[in-house]
Amino acid sequence: MGHVLAIGLLLCALVLLFDPSISHPLCIDSRAPSTLSTPLKFCSYNGTACCNSTEDSQIQKQFQSMNISSSACASLLKPVLCARCDPFSAELFTVDSVPRPVPILCNSTVSSANSSQSLIQVTNDFCSSLWDTCQNVSISNSPFAPSLQGQAGIPVTSNVSELTQLWQSKADFCNAFGGVSSDDSVCFDGEPVKLNDTGTPIPPHGLCLEKIGNGSYLNMVAHPDGSNRAFFSSQEGKVWLATIPEEGSGEAMGLDESNPFVDLTDQVHFDTAFGMMGMAFHPNFTHNGRFFASFNCDKEKWPGCTGRCSCNSDVNCDPSKIGPDNGAQPCQYQTVIAEYTANGTASQPSLATSAKPSEVRRIFTMGLPFTGHHAGQILFGPEDGYLYFMMGDGGGDGDPYNFSQNKKSLLGKIMRLDVDNVLSASEIDKLALWGNYSVPKDNPISEDPALRPEIWALGLRNPWRCSFDSENPSYFICADVGQDLYEEVDVITKGGNYGWNFYEGPYPFTPPNSSSRNASTKPTDPIFPIMGYNHSEVNKKEGSASITGGYIYRSTTDPCMYGRYVYGDLYAGAIWAGSEDPENSGNFSTSKIPFSCGRNSPIPCASVPGSSLPALGYIFSFGEDNRKDIFVLSSSGVYRVVRPSRCNYTCSKENVTSVATPSPSASPNDAWWLSNPSKSTVLLISSLVLLLLLSFA
Ligand SMILES: *[C@@H]1O[C@H](CO)[C@@H](O)[C@H](O)[C@H]1NC(C)=O
Ligand SMILES: *[C@@H]1O[C@H](CO)[C@@H](O)[C@H](O)[C@H]1NC(C)=O
Ligand SMILES: *[C@@H]1O[C@H](CO)[C@@H](O)[C@H](O)[C@H]1NC(C)=O
Ligand SMILES: *[C@@H]1O[C@H](CO)[C@@H](O)[C@H](O)[C@H]1NC(C)=O
Ligand SMILES: *[C@@H]1O[C@H](CO)[C@@H](O)[C@H](O)[C@H]1NC(C)=O
Ligand SMILES: *[C@@H]1O[C@H](CO)[C@@H](O)[C@H](O)[C@H]1NC(C)=O
Ligand SMILES: *[C@@H]1O[C@H](CO)[C@@H](O)[C@H](O)[C@H]1NC(C)=O
Ligand SMILES: *[C@@H]1O[C@H](CO)[C@@H](O)[C@H](O)[C@H]1NC(C)=O
Ligand SMILES: *[C@@H]1O[C@H](CO)[C@@H](O)[C@H](O)[C@H]1NC(C)=O
Ligand SMILES: *[C@@H]1O[C@H](CO)[C@@H](O)[C@H](O)[C@H]1NC(C)=O
Ligand SMILES: *[C@@H]1O[C@H](CO)[C@@H](O)[C@H](O)[C@H]1NC(C)=O
Ligand SMILES: *[C@@H]1O[C@H](CO)[C@@H](O)[C@H](O)[C@H]1NC(C)=O
Repeated sequence: MGHVLAIGLLLCALVLLFDPSISHPLCIDSRAPSTLSTPLKFCSYNGTACCNSTEDSQIQKQFQSMNISSSACASLLKPVLCARCDPFSAELFTVDSVPRPVPILCNSTVSSANSSQSLIQVTNDFCSSLWDTCQNVSISNSPFAPSLQGQAGIPVTSNVSELTQLWQSKADFCNAFGGVSSDDSVCFDGEPVKLNDTGTPIPPHGLCLEKIGNGSYLNMVAHPDGSNRAFFSSQEGKVWLATIPEEGSGEAMGLDESNPFVDLTDQVHFDTAFGMMGMAFHPNFTHNGRFFASFNCDKEKWPGCTGRCSCNSDVNCDPSKIGPDNGAQPCQYQTVIAEYTANGTASQPSLATSAKPSEVRRIFTMGLPFTGHHAGQILFGPEDGYLYFMMGDGGGDGDPYNFSQNKKSLLGKIMRLDVDNVLSASEIDKLALWGNYSVPKDNPISEDPALRPEIWALGLRNPWRCSFDSENPSYFICADVGQDLYEEVDVITKGGNYGWNFYEGPYPFTPPNSSSRNASTKPTDPIFPIMGYNHSEVNKKEGSASITGGYIYRSTTDPCMYGRYVYGDLYAGAIWAGSEDPENSGNFSTSKIPFSCGRNSPIPCASVPGSSLPALGYIFSFGEDNRKDIFVLSSSGVYRVVRPSRCNYTCSKENVTSVATPSPSASPNDAWWLSNPSKSTVLLISSLVLLLLLSFA
């Protein structure tokens, strides 16, 4: 113990000096870079790039039209134009969310973070070299015209110009074009962006948990007012507002089961794979009181359950030919997003502790072909304010109607909806929308008219839990439940095709009725997972493994988890941590990590004696509060990730000095369980009502 303390003291100066984050590879139009079959002829990028051969030859034409007489200058300007093809072009070309005509050129005097009392200098002075080499060279159609930069300058009188005609001095020029990108990390130095390899990341020793609640919930959403409160919802359709105690206070979370925030159980159809799947609070909830629930309903039981059937002639599906599934007719069960208000129960929405269950507006209703795979999470994009809606392939073994690759179907998709600008009834009709919303004008349909306008990403099977990284929202990460072989984690990008049902994770997939599949719908550029696991890695009975997506850990509570993506397996009750290396590369390595229950857990973590359930029970979901602490929502309760020292996990970055040393003999009630990842077991449970059959048809 003395050792640990001394090491902690020694290292506390190093604690929390995290680098600012840049984004993973992403193109200017928010798309993922694509894999090249052959290197680009002109720009010579190979591997992955943001250009295809057509765009490469356009750049070549642009370069030729510049008619640069000096070969020294030409050799600097070519890579500048080609930077558009760089897999990090979004980062290189975007300043304050506005794309530029040329990348940000590295500038020697750029000072970035000034946190440690000294200016960090970028040594490569590409901007300066470019000016020195090109200043007197005539360039036709110069991309450096001030008008293009939105900067005051000498007016352009001719298409042919020298930099000295456009800019008064090097300082002026580099002031306009030099610098580093918005988040102080990337600039163009004449070479493709390279990231430093910091060596194989060391996985954390373990995840220390404390139990703060006994209930079983599917969703946790931090209160939008930034307070220490969070909403929890059950699969049955109730939402509670709970207070999250300080770590170390010894308190459980404050949640009164008998006093829900809102009770939607009359509308919600609750059954094995049905129920209330998601909830989301408007980014401006504290002003407008708007919140949204995503749930399933039964049209035979509730008159509000009246949506068009997702199996229809537009998508080559005849509902009369689909047999009953578990006794249900096609589209008897529907997926709904409904809007509610916290107005009227308090003087302002942040003070509301309850809301009326009366629907303000129906956002979306769609009938489901079968009883499985309808995901249902909803999330507001932290940067764009649009509502993202996760939808599975609708069920059946291997996506029998090939909905996921059908651009006219919303099954197997991630949708992106604007719920602030609702169209008129006639416009909704004209566009054949599924409810009251509009379509953001930069949805992928703007480039691929074959797509339904709602679609943001396609080729998913059953995206079960997605999150936006709170520090780097361009990391929109979803776990997608697999079928026979592989559970996957994907970075979702605009228009991205994640391959199902031609691929399961990285593996080619052949559905049982492959003759019904149109080979022409095979994705030409599927985006493969950033991580995942084979079914053989979890000890499974009944063929069941089912991934539950989590969060990139951004709390300071466990510094050894910082920056790692935490996710689990529903049935195995196992937890993984994915680490990216190099940082921002999009290259992740992942490992199953042990977890255990910390000292002085407010509620003892004992698993039921004699039970062979995994220690945590089934992992339904994860949550994140306003302090960025991460929670595990399982069939046995609510757990919070706490300081590793409470489980005796060594983490050299932990500030042990701030820890109130717990007395070793405290709390005789404390039950200890330890997970041993290699031995997690999944057993057959006969009476588990809340079992989500995510991976079954
Ligand atoms: C891609 O480029 C890198 C660096 O220029 C080179 O090492 C590699 O061999 C190239 N790969 C292919 C497939 O051309
Ligand atoms: C290249 O990309 C452009 C823009 O995304 C697209 O319109 C074009 O069809 C692509 N060309 C090829 C050969 O893939
Ligand atoms: C290219 O520049 C040279 C002089 O450097 C000039 O003679 C020639 O006409 C130019 N060509 C075009 C197409 O502008
Ligand atoms: C950087 O930090 C030093 C020392 O704290 C301070 O004197 C200086 O003004 C800072 N510079 C900028 C540009 O913020
Ligand atoms: C460009 O012109 C300026 C002024 O005429 C001169 O001082 C400078 O040396 C020239 N640079 C080059 C690279 O020719
Ligand atoms: C010169 O610029 C104008 C407008 O920017 C353009 O219309 C014209 O085609 C350009 N001329 C040449 C020779 O590139
Ligand atoms: C780039 O360098 C010039 C001097 O060479 C300086 O005046 C300018 O402020 C710098 N630009 C930025 C964005 O720091
Ligand atoms: C990469 O590593 C080199 C050498 O260790 C260092 O000088 C440079 O600043 C690093 N670059 C980044 C982006 O971290
Ligand atoms: C939030 O709502 C208030 C009141 O309607 C409004 O004044 C404010 O501009 C809104 N904020 C945002 C970010 O939309
Ligand atoms: C709730 O109150 C806000 C602020 O007064 C108002 O803008 C909004 O329209 C109200 N919503 C409903 C459904 O009454
Ligand atoms: C953790 O360390 C404390 C103090 O050294 C010790 O009393 C306790 O038994 C340890 N617990 C475990 C599970 O190793
Ligand atoms: C570590 O904790 C101590 C005591 O709470 C505090 O004074 C110190 O600032 C902390 N150090 C860091 C690096 O957070």
